[in-house]
Amino acid sequence: MTTNETRRAILESLGDGPVSGPQLADSLDISRAAVWKQIDALRDAGFEIESGPGGYELTDVTAYNAPAIEYGLEAAVSLEYHDSIGSTNDRARELAAEGATDVAVLADEQVGGRGRLERAWSAPSGGVWLSLLTRPEITPAQAPLYTLAASVATARAAREAGVDARIKWPNDVVVPVDEDGDYRKLAGILTEMEGEMDRVEWIAVGIGVNANIDAADLPETATTIREEAGDVDRRRFVQRLLEELAEYRTDLEGVVPAWRELALTLGQRVRVDRPSGELVGDAVDITDSGALVVKTADGNETVAAGDCEHL
Ligand code: BTN
Repeated sequence: MTTNETRRAILESLGDGPVSGPQLADSLDISRAAVWKQIDALRDAGFEIESGPGGYELTDVTAYNAPAIEYGLEAAVSLEYHDSIGSTNDRARELAAEGATDVAVLADEQVGGRGRLERAWSAPSGGVWLSLLTRPEITPAQAPLYTLAASVATARAAREAGVDARIKWPNDVVVPVDEDGDYRKLAGILTEMEGEMDRVEWIAVGIGVNANIDAADLPETATTIREEAGDVDRRRFVQRLLEELAEYRTDLEGVVPAWRELALTLGQRVRVDRPSGELVGDAVDITDSGALVVKTADGNETVAAGDCEHL
C-alpha cells in the first residue's frame, strides 16, 4: 500500500467509530509505529483525531486540502490542491497534455487567474478556484451544456450556503440586488477544451467562486459568500459542487430545465453582444443546447454565444 492508500484506509476505518491502534495495525498489516505516524500526519493535514479509551476517533475535518476534500466526497474525481498557483485552468491544460482525466485542480489563491474574453480574474486567498478536467463522450456542440451544468452546480452549492444565487446567461452566477434584474457577480465559469469536429478530447471547466473574501477586495460589481451569508465551509462547498457536476455527466438533458429554474436572465430586456453584432430584445427562453432565445420586433432570434447585459 502507498502512504496515501494507508491514510485513506485509516480514515475509512475511523469513519465507523473509534478504533484502537493495534486493531488498525492488524487490519492494515502495518506496525503500530506506522499507524501512529500516519495518525500524526493526518492530524497535520487537518483531520481532528482524538485518542480516547475506545481508541482513535475522528471528530472533525477542518482543513481545505486534497485529502480533506477527498474524504467523504461522493464523486469519482481525484484532487490536486495548491496553496497558490498561476491559474488552475492552466494547470488542468498541462494535466490534459499528460493524458490525465477526472482530476479537479484547486487552489486557495491564483496569481494569474483568467476570465472569459481574455480578461483577468481576481482570485485572492479564501475563494474557491477550481478546474475540473474530464474526457466526456460528447460532441463540441454539446460542450456549452457542460458550462451551464457548472453554473447550475455552483448556484445550488451557493444557495445551500444561504446565498440567493441565480444565473445570468450563459453562466455567470449572480446575486440580485433589486427587482429590475440588477445583480452582483458571485462566480464565473471559464470552459476550455480540445477536440475534433465530432468529438471532444478533453474539457476543463474552470469555476471561480468569491467565497470567504471581503467584497471590498474585489471589483465593485462583485459580491462574495462572506458578504451575502457569512463564511462557508469551503471543503463542504467543493464537495457539493463536484457531486452536483458528477450527476450532470450522466444526465446532460437535465441541465437545461435546472438552469431555467435558477435563471435571472429569463424575462429580462437584454442586450447581447454577438460576433455578428448587437441584439436587443426580451430574453424568453433557452434552447435544448443552451442558446438564448431573444424576442425582438422582427421575431425570435437564438444566440449561441455572446456577452449579455440586462437592461
Ligand atoms: C468569467 O466570468 O470571466 C470566468 C471566470 C473564471 C475564473 C475561474 S477561477 C478557476 C479557473 N482558473 C482560472 O484561471 N479561471 C477559472
